[in-house]
Amino acid sequence: MSIHFGVDYYPEHWPKERWETDAKLMQEMGVQVVRMAEFSWFKMEPSEGVFHFEWLEEAVALLDKYGIKSILGTPTAAPPAWIIERNPEIQPIDREGRRRHFGGRHHDCQSNEVYRGHIKRFVTAFSKRFAENPGVIGWQIDNELGNSHYDLCMCNSCKAKFQQWLKIKYGKIETLNDAWGTAFWSQGFNNFSQIGTPLITAVGENPSAMLDWKCFCSDLIVDFAKWQADIIRANCPEHFITHNYMCFDNKVNYYDLGKLLDFVSNDIYPAGHWQKPQAHPDSGLAASHDVVRGYKKQPFWMMEQQSGMSGWEIMGRALEPGQMSAWAMQSVAHGADAVVFFRWRTCAMGTEQYWHGILGHSGNPGRIYNEARQLTHTFSKHMDDFEGTMPHPEVAIVHSFRQNYAFDIQPNHPELCYVEQLQKYHKALYNKKIPVDFVRGMDDLSSYKLVIAPLQYLMTPQLEQHYIDYVANGGHLVLTMRTGVKDATNLCMTDRELPGRLSEICGIEVPEYDCLLETTGGVFYNSREYEAEKWCDIITLGKAKQIAEYTTGFYRQSPAITENSYGNGITWYVGTEPGDDLMADLTDYFLKTCGIEPLGTAAEGVEMMTRENDDSIWLFIINHTNERQVYHLHGMYTLLEGEKEEFLNPYEVQLLIKSKRSRY
Ligand code: GLA
Ligand code: ZN
Repeated sequence: MSIHFGVDYYPEHWPKERWETDAKLMQEMGVQVVRMAEFSWFKMEPSEGVFHFEWLEEAVALLDKYGIKSILGTPTAAPPAWIIERNPEIQPIDREGRRRHFGGRHHDCQSNEVYRGHIKRFVTAFSKRFAENPGVIGWQIDNELGNSHYDLCMCNSCKAKFQQWLKIKYGKIETLNDAWGTAFWSQGFNNFSQIGTPLITAVGENPSAMLDWKCFCSDLIVDFAKWQADIIRANCPEHFITHNYMCFDNKVNYYDLGKLLDFVSNDIYPAGHWQKPQAHPDSGLAASHDVVRGYKKQPFWMMEQQSGMSGWEIMGRALEPGQMSAWAMQSVAHGADAVVFFRWRTCAMGTEQYWHGILGHSGNPGRIYNEARQLTHTFSKHMDDFEGTMPHPEVAIVHSFRQNYAFDIQPNHPELCYVEQLQKYHKALYNKKIPVDFVRGMDDLSSYKLVIAPLQYLMTPQLEQHYIDYVANGGHLVLTMRTGVKDATNLCMTDRELPGRLSEICGIEVPEYDCLLETTGGVFYNSREYEAEKWCDIITLGKAKQIAEYTTGFYRQSPAITENSYGNGITWYVGTEPGDDLMADLTDYFLKTCGIEPLGTAAEGVEMMTRENDDSIWLFIINHTNERQVYHLHGMYTLLEGEKEEFLNPYEVQLLIKSKRSRY
């Protein structure tokens, strides 16, 4: 039997006498795996070269006795005080040039050679010690790489690494001067040694330099992970290596990082804390799971699935009965093969005293524990059957870290957010019960009937050609405002009107545009007026036909959305950010034109998602609301779990199956 459910466990926070009670309770709950030790460096190496792994070996062995396997995390996100005392220079420098100090976590510079030396010594000893341990199955490198490392680190070591990176990329300083447009504001360099990390300026920054900086930081983090992965692979060839991602977070290019890993893992905390609680977090979560599945195009693990209310200084909402299970099975529906809950028992000490877990502070099993036990006992057996399977969506949304960086640097409109725009398109599809993949622009797009590529801001001749070929061969492509604006180094393109060479498949040109600063606009579509947000491209029609027009601005009655047949396919160009209603109705039109059918119908907050292999399709129907719901399906499925077909209790999850061999 495979592993499907687990918890994040911190035995070092509790007296040893408690461990066996924990193991027994875990076993009863259906826990098959724990992740441990990712913040326990001091406990394992209290001074240089003095290793104390016995306590962890004891915990691993005890858990193993109860049939629970262990994943060990390298504790490199929190180097201990004795390392900092000896080498204070490994503490990072922020944009203001200030050192960030010990006392929290992530107080490390990831390029620092001395720190790499400490890591090498520790990870070598750690991985050798547990290589043959029968209780250990795999490793997590560091913890949430990129978390807190955005504007870190600006130290001299990072500066030297950045210069080296630029030298490899550009070769000659003249090439860099051209690529960065340093003629502006007298920013030219005589040599690479003059280039610094982006410390705070008097005013303004160079967008091309910032794009390279962000790409460099991503490469640095991948290199930092590789430093550890190489050691673990050499010592533990039988073990897997993973890392816990943070959904759409963009500090490290997760596609690049994924190449080092056997599978990717993800962390989610939907109940609000860092962000405001949302009315329907499920749609954003669905998008997160879909992008995480896309990072390696394979099933993933949830390494931290929220199991209790969150809190550092303030707290988020309590989880309603059934909500945790609905979120957990949502992860599974979108491709998670295992769900590890954060955390086993609510911690009594430190910054995260209020980040609640399966057990409360008292350690007594209660409502959440019982719900988790019910969940594992209901679904584990089915999860064996569909482990490793994927959905086969007909729709893809293009996702790119570079585009994301470029909009971070210059949002164009103060509220324009690259990821939010992707999520908006995703949400319209999610609400219509249409499964979606996230892909990269240069991926093979041919299996998708509809490809939505929002904000294709940075453009290359290769990507242009790829999109042109996709449409010529019968694809349906949605392009939007701010497409083809810049080249790969973040300089504006000047050889044609927007959207550059893609005007060939769009059948339009965009000679002008309007930023809707502190205002909204209107669009007339299909005999109704709708809201347009943030931006209006002012479009000149070529061969395309207009399908919606502006109702506001000096450009009212000019095209807002266009459609163009090209080769065997169609390109739609959306010159604005559609408000929710327009997005919903427009999506209907795209789907109908492409002949894409939803899985069924149900109210907002009722989710439908599939996983499939050669023989079967599993359909998940999840009620993310605290009300009873009904649904209707468009295929002949058989209910595997649940009370009554076409009817859902609050937060109920139903699992259905359909054979691909039957005629229905
Ligand atoms: C993150 C981290 C965990 C923990 C939780 C709760 O996801 O990976 O170590 O800090 O958040 O804050
Ligand atoms: Zn540094």
